[in-house]
Amino acid sequence: MIMVRLFLTVAFASAATSALQTRRSTPPLDRCPGYTASNLVDNGSLLTADLTLAGAPCNTYGNDLTDLKLEVELQTETRLHVKIYDAASNVYQVPTAVLPRPSSQAASPSTAALQFSMTQNPFSFAVIRKSTNETLFNTSGTNLVFETQYLRLRTQLPESPHLYGLGEHTDPFHLNTTNYTRTLWSRDAYGTPNGTNLYGNHPVYFDHRGSSGTHAVFLLNSNGMDIKINDTDGQYLEYNTLGGIVDLYFLAGPTPKEVSMQYAEVVGLPAMMPYWGFGFHQCKYGYRDVYEVAEVVANYSIAGIPLETMWTDIDYMSLRKVFTLDPQRYPLEKVRELVTYLHDHQQHYILMVDPAVAYQDYPPFDNGANMGIFLKTANGSIFKGVVWPGVTAFPDWFHPDTQTYWNNEFLNFFNAETGVDIDALWIDMNEASNFCTYPCSDPEGFAIEAGDPPTPPPVRNNSGRYIPGFPADFQPLNTVKRSALQLNSNGSMLGLPGRDLINPPYMIKNAAGSLSNLTIFTDIVNYDGTTQYDTHNMYGTMMSSTSRNAMLARRPGRRPIVITRSTFAGAGSHHYRIVIAEILEFAALFQVPMVGTDVCGYAENTTSTLCARWAMLGAFSPFYRNHDADGSISQEFYRWPLVEEAAKIAIDARYRLLDYIYTALYAQTTTGDPLINPMFFMYPEDTNTFTIQYQYFYGDSILISPVTEENSTSVDIYLPDDIFYDFWTHEKVQGNGSWVTLTDVDFTSLPMHIKGGSIVPLRANGTNTTTELRKQDFVLWIAPNATNQASGSLYLDEGDAIEQPHVSKITFSYDNGEFFMRGTYGYNTTAGIINIAILGTTESASPNNTSYHYDKAVGTTTLITRIPLTGPWSSKLLM
Ligand SMILES: *[C@@H]1O[C@H](CO)[C@@H](O)[C@H](O)[C@H]1NC(C)=O
Ligand SMILES: *[C@@H]1O[C@H](CO)[C@@H](O)[C@H](O)[C@H]1NC(C)=O
Ligand SMILES: *[C@@H]1O[C@H](CO)[C@@H](O)[C@H](O)[C@H]1NC(C)=O
Ligand SMILES: *[C@@H]1O[C@H](CO)[C@@H](O)[C@H](O)[C@H]1NC(C)=O
Ligand SMILES: *[C@@H]1O[C@H](CO)[C@@H](O)[C@H](O)[C@H]1NC(C)=O
Ligand SMILES: *[C@@H]1O[C@H](CO)[C@@H](O)[C@H](O)[C@H]1NC(C)=O
Ligand SMILES: *[C@@H]1O[C@H](CO)[C@@H](O)[C@H](O)[C@H]1NC(C)=O
Ligand SMILES: *[C@@H]1O[C@H](CO)[C@@H](O)[C@H](O)[C@H]1NC(C)=O
Ligand SMILES: *[C@@H]1O[C@H](CO)[C@@H](O)[C@H](O)[C@H]1NC(C)=O
Ligand SMILES: *[C@@H]1O[C@H](CO)[C@@H](O)[C@H](O)[C@H]1NC(C)=O
Repeated sequence: MIMVRLFLTVAFASAATSALQTRRSTPPLDRCPGYTASNLVDNGSLLTADLTLAGAPCNTYGNDLTDLKLEVELQTETRLHVKIYDAASNVYQVPTAVLPRPSSQAASPSTAALQFSMTQNPFSFAVIRKSTNETLFNTSGTNLVFETQYLRLRTQLPESPHLYGLGEHTDPFHLNTTNYTRTLWSRDAYGTPNGTNLYGNHPVYFDHRGSSGTHAVFLLNSNGMDIKINDTDGQYLEYNTLGGIVDLYFLAGPTPKEVSMQYAEVVGLPAMMPYWGFGFHQCKYGYRDVYEVAEVVANYSIAGIPLETMWTDIDYMSLRKVFTLDPQRYPLEKVRELVTYLHDHQQHYILMVDPAVAYQDYPPFDNGANMGIFLKTANGSIFKGVVWPGVTAFPDWFHPDTQTYWNNEFLNFFNAETGVDIDALWIDMNEASNFCTYPCSDPEGFAIEAGDPPTPPPVRNNSGRYIPGFPADFQPLNTVKRSALQLNSNGSMLGLPGRDLINPPYMIKNAAGSLSNLTIFTDIVNYDGTTQYDTHNMYGTMMSSTSRNAMLARRPGRRPIVITRSTFAGAGSHHYRIVIAEILEFAALFQVPMVGTDVCGYAENTTSTLCARWAMLGAFSPFYRNHDADGSISQEFYRWPLVEEAAKIAIDARYRLLDYIYTALYAQTTTGDPLINPMFFMYPEDTNTFTIQYQYFYGDSILISPVTEENSTSVDIYLPDDIFYDFWTHEKVQGNGSWVTLTDVDFTSLPMHIKGGSIVPLRANGTNTTTELRKQDFVLWIAPNATNQASGSLYLDEGDAIEQPHVSKITFSYDNGEFFMRGTYGYNTTAGIINIAILGTTESASPNNTSYHYDKAVGTTTLITRIPLTGPWSSKLLM
């Protein structure tokens, strides 16, 4: 393996040398002449102009384009769209089929929150918030550079700005403002190192300016790019892309939450997910056979830890080939039996699918080859990479038949009657990842040297130990206990011809080296004529939407869950995703709410204390999965008594709060209001909150403050000037805008506080599965604010179907002793409210307490034993 890597590195070095030799010396960017604006047409909400190169071209990174068009539109009162593209419209633009554009409502300049202002010569523009006259974006001082393989646009910013976003990254949530480069180029980045480009691309940043408001800037561009933030000669942010156009959306807020909602209007609202998706998931790469998977299921059951969903990584495949089962380790009948067992116990099953299809004579490859849906090289042969099964082909998501191909493979392999009846899907390696480094001149040789596919573990004798609960024929072995707005778009928008798609003159800071390294080569042309050079960053998200459709084809009408590794802007509207950390960014900034970490850690070996802490913390992220690498020690929650105890406490609290977070997800899917909130989203004027990245709000009401130092039992937490209530003891805590040290935070607890002013609905009891949970009654926790008031909400539906004709949308309010329940009650449930507790007091009212009474206005005074969730209610709770 080392040999072949060395060989290929050498081979590449010579290719690079020749590329360098042919490269001319490049004039510096500061010689670039910029543009002059003319022919302005301003009809109020829409302004257009022509931009003409203002002098001799600098041709630094490709040739300067001489004629551009500017289009500025006040699309809504809070959204301004600025688009600069080539007059011929041949430069690549993100296809609307991949990312539909928001429609414009043509807002009036007099009522719009944002104002556009332009300087004609040299051309520059500024965006101003009218309510404060603050300049939000200002490109003056640095000329626009628009070349065949390079685009530069710089905005001045105030000193020490509070910027967030520009993911995916593992750098501080509050972005560095000095000497900082964010590179966007999807990359299989094991270990997710900071300071590098990772799996996904979300070119949007939030700029928070405290009491004067928050806004966001979204660059709708899928090309590889470096976004530089620096403070030399004044603070700035600068886009440097390898192509595409300037396609900017300015979102006015002014609150952070409003910005999130406005961003959702641009990239699409996230999809609702099934109720059961919030259950606890278990996964590990390296479960050697179906018996081991069954053992894990059984061990969770024995331990009494609620397991909702079991996962299997690529271990199930025959020699790592997608759409196959290993006939000895994961035989079809046994896998079907496992799935039946899970379904019989109200549990679910998820498998992983990779995009790369083994280049071998087997039906999934033959079908794809016959349909012509694989990416091809210039000479028409199928493009070959090397992934887990060895030499592979890659589906071309732009091909019109790829959806049919993918649907057919899903309908066949995941057939409920004859195949593996999965409940949701996990997709991976979709950057796309390719092990064979560029130029990969001998993929077959590389695969052999690299040992792909790896030798599977020995087949085990199944006649040993007993797996409790599973049928006799399952008993095997060692049971270890445990707007389509396209004005003037006559051109192809497919990308300019004649570009160097392998070694562009401007090179982004791709941590994988050259653009084509370890992925699909960037000179590969997609079916529609676009190139991987321009569309690479969308490969993962296109696989997600194609897979979502395929899941819908096999289970029409039911909400699909597709957990993906690589994402692009708008990804949340198609599916849900997982990466390591970055929950705040994905849920609150990028509109991808179903996000979580690899609980207990993926790479390396976990420890009992780390795993216990993580079991607690993970329970308060939207997606909750214990996930472990091949070769790492097993880390299922039942492996250590400490972790088992922590997990039980955590899952119990998570499940009791499940309808609370499900209600928050519903809100995000309908308005974009995030279900996870950074501290500054809730306290936008409190400057102390701006840099906090370890504390956050789960929903709008529950502050999570984890211990972050390994093996420590103390943590400093920030409490804003507000009333809080300890989640576990209900004790009232007055925050005063300072840091508080909590000590003796043992490994089975997690500091959580309910924000004053909230009413939190909880199920009365945690249960073994979410199916059982739905039968539980509710309790309400009222957390009064300083004026002794509170409010909350509860959304109820059937939980799994896309269409929900019968839903309940209930609001609760509390005002100095009086409780009100209002809303609509379409969802038929036998669950009722059996207790209402007012936190911070010893008072609590139960249905047997005769202080309950119907509001006379509602028309009845009958005493009942519980409050049904079937109609309005009001009650005096305190005497
Ligand atoms: C903003 O500037 C305009 C023009 O100078 C002025 O009329 C307006 O009062 C200013 N608004 C604020 C909030 O300062
Ligand atoms: C920031 O500016 C300094 C000084 O000009 C320069 O050396 C550095 O490369 C810049 N960093 C980035 C990321 O552009
Ligand atoms: C900027 O960061 C790079 C590494 O990303 C470092 O090599 C360089 O020294 C830094 N420059 C300054 C001026 O801090
Ligand atoms: C980035 O990673 C390096 C090395 O792992 C570490 O020393 C540094 O503290 C990290 N920086 C941040 C901001 O996390
Ligand atoms: C960001 O800033 C922090 C603190 O100054 C520094 O440790 C870290 O290396 C920087 N990260 C990057 C990626 O520049
Ligand atoms: C959960 O409890 C229900 C009701 O007792 C039972 O039918 C189901 O099999 C249980 N599932 C698991 C995974 O324990
Ligand atoms: C391509 O990736 C390999 C493996 O990470 C690395 O050794 C090589 O240097 C990279 N090549 C380039 C040109 O960056
Ligand atoms: C994890 O533990 C196993 C078993 O003790 C060991 O073989 C492996 O090397 C460890 N992995 C790491 C990354 O330390
Ligand atoms: C934390 O505690 C665990 C379990 O006792 C131990 O294995 C680990 O080495 C400790 N870590 C550190 C950094 O002390
Ligand atoms: C909730 O759990 C407690 C203790 O486990 C039990 O006593 C009670 O009956 C349960 N209530 C319901 C409604 O299941």
